[in-house]
Amino acid sequence: MTYPPLAPYPALRLRRLRQSPWIRDLVRETVLTPADLIWSMVVHEGEGQVPVASMPGVSRLSVDEAAKAAVEARALGIPAIAIFPHIDGARKDGHGSLAADPDGVICRAVQAMKAAAPEVGIMCDVALDPFTTHGHDGVIEGGRIVNDATIERLVEQAIVQARAGCDILAPSDMMDGRVGALRQALEREGLQDVMIMSYAAKYASAFYGPYRDAIGSGKLGGGPVDNPGDKKTYQMDPANSEEAIREVGLDIAEGADMVMVKPGLPYLDIVRRVVEAFAVPTFAFQVSGEYAMIKAASGHGWIDENRAVLESLGAFKRAGASGVITYFAPQAARLLGA
Ligand code: PBG
Repeated sequence: MTYPPLAPYPALRLRRLRQSPWIRDLVRETVLTPADLIWSMVVHEGEGQVPVASMPGVSRLSVDEAAKAAVEARALGIPAIAIFPHIDGARKDGHGSLAADPDGVICRAVQAMKAAAPEVGIMCDVALDPFTTHGHDGVIEGGRIVNDATIERLVEQAIVQARAGCDILAPSDMMDGRVGALRQALEREGLQDVMIMSYAAKYASAFYGPYRDAIGSGKLGGGPVDNPGDKKTYQMDPANSEEAIREVGLDIAEGADMVMVKPGLPYLDIVRRVVEAFAVPTFAFQVSGEYAMIKAASGHGWIDENRAVLESLGAFKRAGASGVITYFAPQAARLLGA
């Protein structure tokens, strides 16, 4: 990039292009629209809506409510919804057996949502953590998360989701080699049109806290099975950036159509690097903790919520993201439509 020399231009006044709305509109470099949003949504096995305490404004939705939400997304111009399951703790086990249940809440939600609003894309999380007693994303043996045995389970789960009509599989587990295994299984099953958006650069982050509450995740390090108290042996070290490039490159080579960086705002530098390094659609996940922080501050009257929502989502576009997975999707789409 080249900059004009400062000295010969004494009349260079950047505020000239900020003096009124019309000129600001004209020179704006990036624009956020509802079409940039993927609505992050939690579905549950019961009836109606159940508010999530740590995420004011977010409720777990029944299958029927999720179908209504898909219709709402279509009306708001939101192209896709990402669904995550809340499972009754008593029905979980150490292996997350319910993950591959074709009659489970995720498959039923996919079917109901596609029936209600076929024009809206549905993305499913491929991971075992909502279904395991210990809350880890993998199978545990001898206190360790085993990679390849986990992949076998993830493939079963993903094929069941794809058969139910899911458009995008989004593996969020961070096992090595899972994208390649998923892509091969989809080919083998004649499901070659199903897209994969990999959580390629996913960090071991404190910002997932409210999500664990939202999906009723098992307590890490607790329960009858010996298991680690964090996800640091599979999710990335927040200090690393080069490693993100390796992770993304691998997932693309293995067959990912789109990649994701997660969490969002604290990792905008990673989004930018990935966008510059690879020619694939790159998404960012504005995670539960990011949502909760904005809601908490605005709840205290400390920030203007609507402005903070649009500013944070717009920041992802400025960083170069193709779009954002966010719990704010319907609120933002309404603000943008107004
Ligand atoms: C786990 C998964 C997590 C989220 C999405 N999928 C949590 C984790 O990795 O522990 C977090 C989403 C959010 O915080 O909004 N497979």
